[in-house]
Amino acid sequence: MLIVYASRTGNVERFVRKLPAPRLLQIRTGEEEAGEPCVLLTYTTGLGQVPHEVERFARRNQAHIRAVAASGNRNWGSNYAKAADQLAAAYGFEVIHKFELSGRAEDVARFWEGVRALALPRA
Ligand SMILES: Cc1cc2nc3c(=O)[nH]c(=O)nc-3n(C[C@H](O)[C@H](O)[C@H](O)COP(=O)(O)O)c2cc1C
Repeated sequence: MLIVYASRTGNVERFVRKLPAPRLLQIRTGEEEAGEPCVLLTYTTGLGQVPHEVERFARRNQAHIRAVAASGNRNWGSNYAKAADQLAAAYGFEVIHKFELSGRAEDVARFWEGVRALALPRA
């Protein structure tokens, strides 16, 4: 499964580098094309907001997005990693996982399990 991600200060970038053999596409402008099923991984900005470039990508590629996940920081309280919830509310995407900053080993494992489950044939 293709992992499409956005990272402003490097945390999400560090997280995806910990995944085993991922296929990656980085969102820079939001004009990128997935062209195949993918999982969208983003940071959270503003007050629980989806970054603009990610919003643009999601709108244009929604038919290909199978699930989302978000990085955030618990210091933001109820807005913690809320970009994932915002995307789920707007487009109905499943939320696979939320994690702090660049994630711990458990976060990497949980996220990857979620991705693998999506790739399994549906019963
Ligand atoms: C201006 C700004 C606003 C942020 N707002 C939130 C927020 O509302 N909720 C949250 O959980 N994290 C928030 N964060 C934390 C980032 O989402 C978190 O540090 C994330 O790991 C950044 O990923 P990146 O390094 O890949 O850009 C904010 C960070 C910045 C700099």
